[in-house]
Amino acid sequence: MNKAKIAVLVSGGGTNLQALIDAQAAGTLHSGELRLVVSNKADAFALERARRAGIEALTLTRAACGGQAGFEAALTEALDARGIDLIILAGFMSILSADFTSRYDGRIINIHPSLIPSFCGKGYYGLKVHEAALQYGVKVTGATVHYVNEIPDGGKIILQEPVRVLPGDTPETLQRRVMEQAEWRILPEAAELVSAQLQKNKETVK
Ligand code: GRF
Repeated sequence: MNKAKIAVLVSGGGTNLQALIDAQAAGTLHSGELRLVVSNKADAFALERARRAGIEALTLTRAACGGQAGFEAALTEALDARGIDLIILAGFMSILSADFTSRYDGRIINIHPSLIPSFCGKGYYGLKVHEAALQYGVKVTGATVHYVNEIPDGGKIILQEPVRVLPGDTPETLQRRVMEQAEWRILPEAAELVSAQLQKNKETVK
């Protein structure tokens, strides 16, 4: 059976991308294959991780593409030229338009560092999510992998993993624990689940 071709969209350090690369090397991600990494930031360390793993890496910035529409047009072209089946947003810090998400309906997934529906939606990204969780005083947080639709963090949930908040946590310590105990585990697991499902659907259509 052919593997699902995966593109990973990134903006920063790329530790979630690294978890996907490691899962592929370990064979736990086997129904899909990492074929392309696209960063919307030229200096993202994630690009270096992709190169080291031998995965094609592209930078597409909004500025260089003449705005959001130009960025999405260039992205669509890059994805379609490579026959990408599944798009994984792994620390991708930009909201995609309804036009884009409907074009790849059921084929885009995102990792969010909280238990949706808490601390999610517009404005909840990066450290802000963990600051909000600490400010509210929740004792359990976690991470969620979900499908991406036109509503920020609003698509169907695929996997969630809880993580305890500990006394003395700062946004930084909590962010790190959520990554280690939840994000790096469930993102590769969801990538495998969705890749296998997409491949099964393809076989049925044949
Ligand atoms: C992660 O916490 C992810 O959930 C969030 O941004 C962070 C990205 O980290 N949306 P990295 O680039 O994967 O290291």
